[in-house]
Amino acid sequence: MRIDILTLFPDLLSGPFSHSILKRAVTSGIVEIHIHNIRDYATNKHKQVDDYAFGGGAGMVMMIEPIDILIEKLKSERNYDEVIFLTPDGEKFEQRLANSFSVKQNLILLCGHYKGVDQRVRERLITREISIGDYVLTGGELAAAVITDSVVRLIPGVMSDETSALSDSFQDNLLAPPVYTRPAEYKGWKVPKILLSGNDKFISEWKHEQSIERTKLRRPELLD
Ligand code: 6GU
Repeated sequence: MRIDILTLFPDLLSGPFSHSILKRAVTSGIVEIHIHNIRDYATNKHKQVDDYAFGGGAGMVMMIEPIDILIEKLKSERNYDEVIFLTPDGEKFEQRLANSFSVKQNLILLCGHYKGVDQRVRERLITREISIGDYVLTGGELAAAVITDSVVRLIPGVMSDETSALSDSFQDNLLAPPVYTRPAEYKGWKVPKILLSGNDKFISEWKHEQSIERTKLRRPELLD
């Protein structure tokens, strides 16, 4: 898989993919993540990438041309499954969408800033608009990092234990059960006895019950 992230603030995205599981996914070649600075595609001598809104109103609007030039260049090099715009008024991102993106070949993520991007970008260049939740961020960069993280970890070979992505919370609309490690007792706080029993059948039944119990308590709407 290849993910191209288009942003005015590439520095915001240098951290998230340089550690732990995502770093290994990149260095092992399972995924390519390319960060592009939209300003590099500005055409006038001031490297301008935003301008005042026609009709007035507060805030600058990201201009079409640099974004169009960059997206056209990428599209001339390969076919993209989706060109995604990150915006608080987009479709809500959920595990189901992460799953569907994880089987794609090439994705473009366009990070919005200021008051947004020229509507013609959204109508002509974007195939999908996504929000990561009902709150407002200063830009789409953190949302792009969230989406990339949740998608890449689902690609086979990225997680060391391939079953672990399947046992995630949400994968079966149930929250994950509690987990414990050594010591079996700390300050008198004990690990549930069943987990030390060695009986795999009882343990997996217990985990399933715990998942259901947790979901009932914390996220009952997932059971509907
Ligand atoms: Cl994708 N962008 C911004 N700016 N704010 C958000 C968001 C995206 N998703 C939730 N809030």
